Amino acid sequence: RQRVLSGMQPSGSSLHLGNYLGALVQWVRMQDSYDAIYFIPDLHAITVPQDPAELAERTRLTAAQYIAGGVDVDKCTLFVQSHVPEHAQLAWVLNCITGFGEASRMTQFKDKSLKQGTDSTSVGLFTYPILQAADILLYQPEGVPVGEDQRQHIELSRDLAQRFNTRFGETFVVPKPFIQKESAKIYDLQNPTAKMSKSASSAAGLINIMDEPKVTAKRIKSAVTDDGTEIRFDREEKPGVSNLLSIYSLMTGKSLEDVVGHFEGRMYGHLKVELADVVVDRLEPVRARALELLGDPGELDRLLAVGEEKAREIASVTLADVFSKVGFLPAR
Ligand code: TYM
Repeated sequence: RQRVLSGMQPSGSSLHLGNYLGALVQWVRMQDSYDAIYFIPDLHAITVPQDPAELAERTRLTAAQYIAGGVDVDKCTLFVQSHVPEHAQLAWVLNCITGFGEASRMTQFKDKSLKQGTDSTSVGLFTYPILQAADILLYQPEGVPVGEDQRQHIELSRDLAQRFNTRFGETFVVPKPFIQKESAKIYDLQNPTAKMSKSASSAAGLINIMDEPKVTAKRIKSAVTDDGTEIRFDREEKPGVSNLLSIYSLMTGKSLEDVVGHFEGRMYGHLKVELADVVVDRLEPVRARALELLGDPGELDRLLAVGEEKAREIASVTLADVFSKVGFLPAR
């Protein structure tokens, strides 16, 4: 079986619909046919300031949402990044083969640091994509299922894998981005030319897994639509309506064509009302299950410990190989 690996940050109090459709749904699908490894990148989370108690809480909450959304720890490996020290160790080695200019060209860093100002931006945020490369390369996956916004980071992982292999001999599998075209980008409900994003979207632009159904329904009903009245799929002319149509299609499994046909001749309001029902019906059981799982943190921690052990078994082998290839004296 081919191996895939992916992670989703524990930022915010809930995953949003972009995370759910762009990542989680793919993960659940893939765990049946791939050797799948999923993790919660808490080391990445502290590249921006975090309240310690909240971070711990959110890490459990993220795990609960993965499991509630269908990630099955009997079918895949699920763990917390900071439980596997090899991530930080490999990141150091990769830091040392990454060019400063190369790291400077990462657009997510540029966006985030511009917003914060360089003085309050951490060096950790700068090397963030290199830690991400370590996350990936440690496990030798063939594919990394992500949304479109992660493409550049996966490219960097590929470059670093190839560079290391050339300098030190065959060590890493060069991973491919697995990007599902239709769900690669879910847009902000209030600003439908920008991606739905925990850090950039306003509350009204987000649909969160953990929100109460009535909040979710209200956000959908207040989504920005476009001039005119016609319902058709056209990202250029009708970004708002197109986003709603594509969410409807992804949530119901119906093709975009069928969905457009279904709403032909009807009004924006119809689309919103039906979409709100579809989204609430789908997310409510996930939310309920996540809350139930959170009620037993000991059990969650136990599930994560199983994943930690499976992950370390793989990661330690890769790291030992890397340390020996770069010329570190074997530790006793
Ligand atoms: P993160 O936590 O920002 O996002 C998690 C996943 O959700 C996808 N995503 C979206 N997909 C569609 N539409 C959107 N609006 C949207 N917003 C987010 C992301 O593409 C991603 O797949 N750096 C990563 C986490 C990470 C990682 C890794 C991923 C750390 N190490 C190793 C893969 C492999 C991140 O911040 O994703």
